[in-house]
Amino acid sequence: MTTLAPMPTREALHQIADLCPKRWVKHYTRSKLSSDPVYGAVAKEVIGTDQPILDIGCGIGLLAHYLHACGHSLPITGFDYDPRKIDSAVAMATAAGHRHLSFTTGDARTGLPKFSGQVVILDILQFFTESEQDALLTAAASRVAPGAKLIVRSGLRDDSGRFRITVLVDYLAKACFWMKAAPTRYPDAAQFERVLVAAGLKVSIKPMWGGTPFNNFLIVGERHYNETQS
Ligand SMILES: C[S@@+](CC[C@H](N)C(=O)[O-])C[C@H]1O[C@@H](n2cnc3c(N)ncnc32)[C@H](O)[C@@H]1O
Repeated sequence: MTTLAPMPTREALHQIADLCPKRWVKHYTRSKLSSDPVYGAVAKEVIGTDQPILDIGCGIGLLAHYLHACGHSLPITGFDYDPRKIDSAVAMATAAGHRHLSFTTGDARTGLPKFSGQVVILDILQFFTESEQDALLTAAASRVAPGAKLIVRSGLRDDSGRFRITVLVDYLAKACFWMKAAPTRYPDAAQFERVLVAAGLKVSIKPMWGGTPFNNFLIVGERHYNETQS
């Protein structure tokens, strides 16, 4: 069973940023890892477990590096449809000598890798239609092993100012070419309850705003040991 530190040191976060191939990505990574509460939140959710992790929409693999810096040495597979990001993720893992990290290119709308363990989806559902979101959540839940979790961070649709800022920033990410796509649709809390409970998971949803202006929530679906996988 892996014991994780609650958060890496500042130096460890800077070492991760130094792996990035381009200067502006280094700056982005340093600031994102130090300010975005999601990486620490995922680390807390997987503390004390020994299950491998599938990170769907992994980007350049920051979560994998963060968890390694917390002491997580179990296999982590990153999956993303942007080949440029996967190339960077592979280069960074190779440069760091992390052989337990692997990265593969694929579109989560058309299928996920065969897998059983913990599943993470951070900030990608807004690129999907409602039926694609339902299909992805169901497919991801079917890969959650008994005793493991599906951990999702998503902006939730509501009438708050936070929600409007979330949408604006996602459009800016597309305009500056950091994201391949503009947002399509944001899920709401009821959708997570409906899909994940039907998939046999016990669901909790809590705000994860940290110091950010975004309307982000952490959604955790846990598969108990006495429930069979769908
Ligand atoms: C906002 S970024 C989040 C990156 C990463 N999860 C993180 O938190 O550091 C969203 C990621 O989802 C990926 N993505 C979007 N649509 C996808 C799809 N259909 N299949 C796989 N990855 C996708 C994008 O390429 C991008 O890397």
